[in-house]
Amino acid sequence: MNSLVNIALLILSSITICKSQNYIENGYGNNQFSTKTSYFWTYPKQEPVTDSLSSAYLHGRSCAAVHVNILSRHGARYVSIDDMRAFSELKDKLAGKFTNQSFDFINTWVNNYPEKEAELITSLGEEEMSYIGNTFGQELLSFLRKAYGADGLNAFQFSATRKLRTKESAHWFYQGLMKNLNGQNFPSMTPDVRDDILRFYDHCTKYELQTSNITELLKFENGTEFQKMINDIKARLGTNVELTAADVKMMYRLCATELAIMNNSDWCTIQTDKEREILEYDNDIEDYITRLYGYSVTQKMTCPLFEDIFKGMDEAIKAYDQGTSYKKGVFQFGHSDTIVDFLGAMGLFKDAEPILSYNFANMNNRQFRASRVDPFSTHLAFILYNCDGTGIDSYAVKLRFNGQPLIIPACGSDICWYSDVRQAYGQYIYQCDWKNECTQTTDPSVVVG
Ligand SMILES: *[C@@H]1O[C@H](CO)[C@@H](O)[C@H](O)[C@H]1NC(C)=O
Ligand SMILES: *[C@@H]1O[C@H](CO)[C@@H](O)[C@H](O)[C@H]1NC(C)=O
Ligand SMILES: *[C@@H]1O[C@H](CO)[C@@H](O)[C@H](O)[C@H]1NC(C)=O
Ligand SMILES: *[C@@H]1O[C@H](CO)[C@@H](O)[C@H](O)[C@H]1NC(C)=O
Repeated sequence: MNSLVNIALLILSSITICKSQNYIENGYGNNQFSTKTSYFWTYPKQEPVTDSLSSAYLHGRSCAAVHVNILSRHGARYVSIDDMRAFSELKDKLAGKFTNQSFDFINTWVNNYPEKEAELITSLGEEEMSYIGNTFGQELLSFLRKAYGADGLNAFQFSATRKLRTKESAHWFYQGLMKNLNGQNFPSMTPDVRDDILRFYDHCTKYELQTSNITELLKFENGTEFQKMINDIKARLGTNVELTAADVKMMYRLCATELAIMNNSDWCTIQTDKEREILEYDNDIEDYITRLYGYSVTQKMTCPLFEDIFKGMDEAIKAYDQGTSYKKGVFQFGHSDTIVDFLGAMGLFKDAEPILSYNFANMNNRQFRASRVDPFSTHLAFILYNCDGTGIDSYAVKLRFNGQPLIIPACGSDICWYSDVRQAYGQYIYQCDWKNECTQTTDPSVVVG
């Protein structure tokens, strides 16, 4: 009996070890790698439920999907050339200058990141995107199959930005989606480039000026939690080398990069889960100030995208009622800023307290955490339904975020009457004046704090 239990335990623990060693698939530790978190580390793969989103119910009415609009961040990517070089500088700074032999790998570590791949999608990023495309292809199967059967690729719109990583993401999403709709045999697709819609933050002078103040971040990095972390890491390494905030942040980034591309966790062993918590908070302060609720311009400048998504739904409603053709699926691929700024404008992931340098200890259960809200391939889907009837009041909209229902503040549920949602965001949809909002005035309306 005892030996059987022992054998069972042995098998169980070796399975656990095997699983945890597949770093590419599972990540490492608490997986709080902020914006460098792979999608699967936070949202492990699940079998999609066929047609789970093709229909819905609202207030006793049964509704059928008529339009879907998906906005996604690109998939996991290689770091920038600057980061690749900083990795080598960090190695050179530490090699041979520490005493803890647990970290001897540093001395022989070779930087194998090809600069020509900088900022491009990795194979993990391809997998994320094709998984997400496949998931929607299954969850909306009968709706999308019918749309494609009737109009071919004209039923859909694929858009990206001028950056190659967003076009690559569109490509891999498309592969995952189409194999559900048309087997292995489907035409090639080139996404259109829509920087005016998806990179609304480019050239927004007021936004650039207001968010360039990094005092709050420096305060946190200069504070007790962050400084204690630096000293603990130095003690753990057994080194007298002066580590800066930038060094420990680069170590954190190198760890996430090695997991995702090299399937290796060596660099991750230098930092603890508690330290990753601090490093993620540091990232989140920056996101709070530059992408969420630091300045109202960040929300206002998203209005071209709001207008685009809601006018697309308005048009779908009109065309569906009249029986004319329209885009059944709009699939757009942008950046971290694109999606996080938009979530902020929707009033999502907002805590009563701000994410700033002084309140780290109070914010452990905060709603915004980049590893959950902004990993690679983060995506938001609006699914429009017709609830048996014509006119705008017969339409509902459902929100999905990273494979899960998301509560729409306008009605307190993940599915609302379309007209209620449209009304709640009316200022962005029907009064968009991007040029004016982005013009810097002499009085920057600072709302930090
Ligand atoms: C990662 O490494 C682990 C253990 O060394 C191995 O089992 C796994 O197959 C590797 N994963 C990939 C995707 O190479
Ligand atoms: C920069 O931000 C800090 C808050 O962290 C604030 O105290 C300071 O006044 C800001 N500076 C400017 C020039 O707006
Ligand atoms: C950082 O801390 C030092 C010493 O505590 C202080 O002199 C310096 O002004 C601080 N810098 C910032 C940006 O808070
Ligand atoms: C050396 O590193 C290992 C692994 O992190 C750690 O457990 C150990 O405490 C370190 N040794 C010292 C003296 O800090």
